[in-house]
Amino acid sequence: MELNIKKIKEQAFEEIEEIKSSEEWQEIRNKYFSRKSGELAKLIKDVKEVSDDLKPKFGTLVNQVKEEIGSALDQKWAELEKDQSKNLDKDFIDVTLNIDKYKLGHLHPMTQIQTELEDIFKSMGFMILDGPELESDYYNFEALNIPSWHPARDAQDTFYVEELPNSGKEKLVLRTHTSPVQVRAMQKYGAPLRCVVPGRVFRNEATDASHDHTFYQLEGLMIDKDISIANLVAVMKEMLSAIFKQEVKVRLRPGYFPFVEPGFELDFGCLICQGNGCSVCKQTGWIEFVGSGMVHPNVLKYGGIDPDKWSGFAFGLGTTRLVMMKYSIDDIRLLQSGDLRFLNQF
Ligand code: DAH
Repeated sequence: MELNIKKIKEQAFEEIEEIKSSEEWQEIRNKYFSRKSGELAKLIKDVKEVSDDLKPKFGTLVNQVKEEIGSALDQKWAELEKDQSKNLDKDFIDVTLNIDKYKLGHLHPMTQIQTELEDIFKSMGFMILDGPELESDYYNFEALNIPSWHPARDAQDTFYVEELPNSGKEKLVLRTHTSPVQVRAMQKYGAPLRCVVPGRVFRNEATDASHDHTFYQLEGLMIDKDISIANLVAVMKEMLSAIFKQEVKVRLRPGYFPFVEPGFELDFGCLICQGNGCSVCKQTGWIEFVGSGMVHPNVLKYGGIDPDKWSGFAFGLGTTRLVMMKYSIDDIRLLQSGDLRFLNQF
């Protein structure tokens, strides 16, 4: 019996010495201290078997060994904890360290301008809306007063998506402008209505420094009681002054767009020469900026709005053009090139 107790003690000490992890520690602890099958429980059982006069001796011995093994385990646990905090020290990452290698990117200049415009219009109570880039022929042309025979279609050639025969599906096109969202918005929200629609548009163009097949526009629409051209001019002046951070002059010239009547080309006074004439404004003192006008009664009807009760203005500005002007970019194709030498300048 005595020998057996000694053996178990030695074995336990050896095994505790070898422990490397908390899982192993738990395993060894169970091996000796488990109430049912632990080695110490077995020894206690054996003590019960010995004759009464030897019981106190072996009982004391087993309790002593139990305590020794217990304190060896406690000591091991303390060592394991110390090791673990050492490892944590080793893995410590200094988050304040400035690592140039992983530079964060930034927003594309197009996105910067778009966000700026959205903020300006939001401050004037306009909603920001979105519309599909793959648009139906109906919303892109028909509902904007441009039926299939209309010559205005020639000025906006685009990419047509082939219909499946007998699919009964609408004819689809890559939208040529953001104007189709005008009718979608009227149908969804009715009058009164104030919204702007920033977005990507497409044209079947031979590309050069000032033409691309993909570019960006921002459409604007305001419908209410007694809306007039004066409201259009006021909103345009407010927007331009906010963008260029100075008072900006605007002028209207007649322009033809089938979905407005009357229609205008809206120009603003050249900020480079203050109207005296320079190469940017082609010596005119004015920069062509947006197509605009009073929403045509047919378009209001397509949108489900009564033209006898409501009137409105609409405009469509080329955000790509605006970015080019703001940053003096002389080739439109750079904007979609993904060339970092170009993009890192903004
Ligand atoms: N959608 C026209 C274009 O892409 C621009 C335009 C002109 C929009 C007049 C308008 C407008 O809302 O009233 O050429």
